[in-house]
Amino acid sequence: MLRSLILAAARSPRVERLIETAPLTREVVRRFVAGTTGADALRVTRELADGGAAVSLDYLGEDTLTTDQAVATRDEYLSLLSALSTAELTPAAEVSVKLSALGQRFDEKLAFDLAHSICAAASEAGTTVTVDMEDHTTTDSTLDILSRLRVDFPTTGAVLQAYLRRTEGDCRELVGAGSRVRLCKGAYAEPESVAFSNRLDVDKSYARCMSILMSGQGYPMLATHDPRLIAIGENGAKWFDRTPDTFEFQMLYGIRPDEQRRLIHEGYTVRVYVPYGGEWYGYLMRRLAERPANVAFFARALTSRS
Ligand code: FDA
Repeated sequence: MLRSLILAAARSPRVERLIETAPLTREVVRRFVAGTTGADALRVTRELADGGAAVSLDYLGEDTLTTDQAVATRDEYLSLLSALSTAELTPAAEVSVKLSALGQRFDEKLAFDLAHSICAAASEAGTTVTVDMEDHTTTDSTLDILSRLRVDFPTTGAVLQAYLRRTEGDCRELVGAGSRVRLCKGAYAEPESVAFSNRLDVDKSYARCMSILMSGQGYPMLATHDPRLIAIGENGAKWFDRTPDTFEFQMLYGIRPDEQRRLIHEGYTVRVYVPYGGEWYGYLMRRLAERPANVAFFARALTSRS
């Protein structure tokens, strides 16, 4: 119930204005977002890489409405990739891209062309791109664009969401050699007709999908902070004889950093998803919706005096 309310608020411009202008919002944002500039992104990437983590950088923004905005997002990724390469942070750091930030909602060809040029720049910089997955109305279009990107850039990563009823089938389609698939639970408000709403059903779906990916030929990227699913992932690696260079765990910046360090210490590959940029509102609201304790943390910060 609380989750649905927060995700509904994520789409309300009024709530957005209220939260963006609240005096202590910045404190809360800093917990989940690296900063607003490319320099912030590089600094955090360097710190994480020094601690043994791999990184996927996300330039925040979604549901872009104009070609100019979409092109500006592409340009930010191009300069980020060039800076990562100059700083010798590739291939440890890759980028994650939302197609809606590249114009997918109003011009799929534009989104494909811009994503293609980001993949080309990543390839030039010696690293990869993962295409984030958004709400279910975009799944077919995103998987279609992804399969076309993979013609020229076969290492481009997909994201599949375990809460969608279709996802076991999508996992089977994407387990071939060379394919990189990030498996997450899913972060959007979805109708019962397309998604499991019960947490246990989502977790069971995640475990089934993980088993399909871990037994396949591709490179699974297990994106979760859930201790039970991480333990199942560790067992699955033993069961399917997967060495640390054949799969990875992924977590979000600021969430369970101790667990990130533990897994690195155990010898696993861990990639931290690091968002940066000024358009943090939608991202922050999804993080709040995932955990009621974050709402309390946020409310305390908003109501306490500086
Ligand atoms: P769950 O939500 O059950 O959390 C398990 C435990 O993790 C909690 O009990 C808590 O301890 C901790 N935790 C989880 N979320 C937290 C939070 N916000 N704050 C504090 N603690 C928290 N989704 C999507 O739809 N499309 C995408 O492209 C991506 N991409 C993506 C990349 C990466 C690297 C990750 C880790 C996640 C995503 N997601 C995503 C988000 C994903 O779908 C999901 O919403 C979150 O990962 C939370 O789900 P968990 O699997 O962590 O389980």
